[in-house]
Amino acid sequence: MNYKELIKKIDKLKIPKHIAIIMDGNGRWARIHKTKRLNGHKKGVEAVRRIVETSTEIGLQYLTIYAFSTENWRRSRTEVNYLLKLIMDSLIREIEELNSNNVNIRFIGSEKELSQSYNKKVVEVCRKSWNNTGLHLNVAMNYGGRREIIEAFQKIISDVQAGKINKSKIDDKIVSNYLYTTSIPDPDFVIRTSGEKRLSNFLIWQSAYSEFWFTDTLWPDFSREEFIRAILDFQNRERRFGSR
Ligand code: IPE
Ligand code: IPE
Ligand code: MG
Repeated sequence: MNYKELIKKIDKLKIPKHIAIIMDGNGRWARIHKTKRLNGHKKGVEAVRRIVETSTEIGLQYLTIYAFSTENWRRSRTEVNYLLKLIMDSLIREIEELNSNNVNIRFIGSEKELSQSYNKKVVEVCRKSWNNTGLHLNVAMNYGGRREIIEAFQKIISDVQAGKINKSKIDDKIVSNYLYTTSIPDPDFVIRTSGEKRLSNFLIWQSAYSEFWFTDTLWPDFSREEFIRAILDFQNRERRFGSR
């Protein structure tokens, strides 16, 4: 089935509100194509473009993409520097078009290891899109679920000590409000490419009741068609949230 036919099969009333993607397999894609890892990442950006476009087309409200984890600093300096620059350059290059498509961009993650000028640039560029009401595109950058929860702990304890919140009133809503993802609904659907079946520290609190889709496809090869097929699969699932 081609893209047009597939997209027609989507039940508009059952589109997940929030899809989160672990974009994995750029390095293996490069190895298969006998090229440098960096070229795999570059190719990966094209896949991001496709998936963002498709998300806009189907009227998705929230898309979160895992771009760089708090553990990715363990890679070679060359690769880390390349990734950071690639993410920034792509953002700057695409911002006008994203803006014209009414996409609202937000970075989630820790600012700690990133330079001040990097963080400043992120804010400057994203600010241009903050009035947009279409797709909310969250870029998980220097993101780690455990780090996010630790930082939330620190803020909550400070606020308890300052008398702003009552310890006994802390519930999942309050905790959620202290995460980077404040005001973003939990992901309904988490996709991971490249055949690995793990979360790798991605949205560990938020994905408590998410549906999962794992595919062997490497991220640079992830197509619009497969994305739609994944959504169609999601639409056939029964979510119970603990009820019978
Ligand atoms: C995903 O591709 C991109 C990032 C983690 C930034 P990888 O670079 O992890 O690719 P593999 O897993 O080595 O194939
Ligand atoms: C997860 O992929 C991080 C991103 C996609 C940004 P990794 O390739 O870093 O994860 P592991 O090391 O295989 O778990
Ligand atoms: Mg990987």
